[in-house]
Amino acid sequence: MYVKIVGTGSFLPERVVDNFEIARMVDTSDEWIQTRTGIKTRHIATKETVASMATEAARKAVADAGISPEEIDLIIVSTVSAEQSLPCVACEVQKALGISQVTAFDVNSACSGFITGYQMAAGQIKAGLAKTALVIGSECLSNGVDWTDRGTCILFGDGAGAAVLRADCAPEELCIPCVLHADGSQGEALTCSLGHGKDKVPYDEYYRMDGKAIFKFATRKVPEVIREVLELSGHTVEEIDYFVLHQANKRIIDAIAKRLRQDESKFPMNIMDNGNISSACIPMLLDDMNRKGMLKPGMKLVLAGFGAGLTWGGFYLEW
Ligand code: UT7
Repeated sequence: MYVKIVGTGSFLPERVVDNFEIARMVDTSDEWIQTRTGIKTRHIATKETVASMATEAARKAVADAGISPEEIDLIIVSTVSAEQSLPCVACEVQKALGISQVTAFDVNSACSGFITGYQMAAGQIKAGLAKTALVIGSECLSNGVDWTDRGTCILFGDGAGAAVLRADCAPEELCIPCVLHADGSQGEALTCSLGHGKDKVPYDEYYRMDGKAIFKFATRKVPEVIREVLELSGHTVEEIDYFVLHQANKRIIDAIAKRLRQDESKFPMNIMDNGNISSACIPMLLDDMNRKGMLKPGMKLVLAGFGAGLTWGGFYLEW
């Protein structure tokens, strides 16, 4: 028996920035961006914050789950782009939802963050420390985008996705087919340093990325971790209905599908409309699928993410 996702929600800022607008800022084109990444548009926050977007996505997930906010006893927010260090975003969400008696904290494992959040929450549920968890990925990546760097500014967007987790069995009957990995020795491949160092010299505060290195890493490591997850859950790759992957680049997802020898229709995407929203991508895509009626009871899914750290991981989910 597995920890279930019983409700999903998402939020996107209203302002849409298309490739033509980006091409007025840097030397690029709609054609290049679409062919090399799959992205057509992304949403960029104007007045929204990581906490306000997380709260909106959370409210929708709670409504979708058909529960009252008071039933939530654990809130985990994954983010790399909060406007403030303290208080944590999870506490801001707790305040906005008006609930007490709750454990609330943030995690930072970049684009693998929703997977990390799921593992933390599922572990707490299995340990009997929580019953109903809210796991949220919320990002305002535009806070750290260098709009003069065509290697990164074409990719990122803002938004939030949330999921309500619960078990429908006794905690001791639960298994958690989730795998997480990290390799800090490759951390230089994607960095962002907001704030100042000890010597008061401002850090370079923007995202800096070795796109090629991450591309190679993702296409090699994600199929591997999917196979590890399947070994833990005891399923074959053919049995999986959908692979819900981090939306970094359509070509990365296509390459993963090819390596797994699975049809592309098993790899839903929303990168065309939203771009890469780090830890928000996976729960937002799951919410899209849920609202479109693509998810039927008993369906078998593998969710997997990868990104800065470097980190990567995945888990098996039954709908
Ligand atoms: O969320 C997890 C973290 N991020 C990722 O997963 C990103 C993974 N990487 C990628 O998605 C791709 O590597 C990028 C989209 C970032 C870049 O695509 P690429 O196919 O790897 O391009 P490249 O870096 O090999 O560059 C090819 C050419 C270069 O020109 P030359 O040297 O061949 O003349 C670049 O200067 O394309 C040029 N280029 C661009 N041209 C037009 C790079 N960015 C752009 C651009 N528009 N925006």
